[in-house]
Amino acid sequence: MIKKCLFPAAGYGTRFLPATKAIPKEMLPVLTKPLLQYGVEEAIDAGLTTMAIVTGRGKRAIEDHFDISYELEHQIQGTDKEHYLKEIRAVIDKCTFSYTRQIEMKGLGHAILTGETLIGNEPFAVILADDLCDNHEGHGVLLQMVKLYEKYKCSIVAVEEIPMQDSKKYGVIAGEFIEDDVVRVSHMVEKPAPEDAPSNLAIIGRYILTPDIFEILQNTAPGKGGEIQITDALLAQAKQGKVIGYKFKGKRFDCGSVDGFVSATNYFYAKSEIEN
Ligand code: UTP
Repeated sequence: MIKKCLFPAAGYGTRFLPATKAIPKEMLPVLTKPLLQYGVEEAIDAGLTTMAIVTGRGKRAIEDHFDISYELEHQIQGTDKEHYLKEIRAVIDKCTFSYTRQIEMKGLGHAILTGETLIGNEPFAVILADDLCDNHEGHGVLLQMVKLYEKYKCSIVAVEEIPMQDSKKYGVIAGEFIEDDVVRVSHMVEKPAPEDAPSNLAIIGRYILTPDIFEILQNTAPGKGGEIQITDALLAQAKQGKVIGYKFKGKRFDCGSVDGFVSATNYFYAKSEIEN
């Protein structure tokens, strides 16, 4: 059973400067909800109740968000504005939060390794909140992956078909399809040039990892961009046949880029118009 979800949220978010100078990227809202809250809700929907967040300097707003604001609660209690707090109250009621800080931003692999102290020796999920996913017929991407874990009991990366010219933005996998939407991964490359990409299947910000990943990460040298890459560590597992890629059902927005963020905002606004 997977109970814990790790959220690496220590990055600088330079593509969103100046907005991210004092506000964590993960707290930027799509409509009225911060990206990180969407991620936490997806984890709750997948049955996970322990949220482990890797933060860094200047990220204190994250801890305040997943806490009670007594003054605010007191002010709006019993007024017609109280319903605005309904969703975040429900989140706080359903799960626990723990935090650790990444002191130096040495990459996603390093951020995940920093989270070991919160995860311990058990399989866990990872959500990158800046990849915002909408569910498919009520099934969130992480829920789909948790179900798949019950069958394969190995690390899982969510993958999506991308235009080849975008390969430089992603980790790209290669392997053999063992089900319609499941690939046994044999190879993966971080941010390859289009001519070097082994396929058009790119890893997005949803993972399920088995805990041996921590020891592998400890021995993983800095890779692309001088950062410790989760892709390099996963490759070691893949070589033992212990990684699968899952072509998830649903929609994903790269909210770490301005284009993706604007698309997500338009999409969720249109969706809320239909629902209300
Ligand atoms: P990104 O590379 O998209 O985030 O990392 P970034 O570095 O904050 O963004 P830019 O490129 O400067 O605009 C993906 C995820 O990994 C986390 C980020 O917070 C983000 O959620 N991350 C990345 C860390 O927690 N620590 C790191 O050292 C690097």
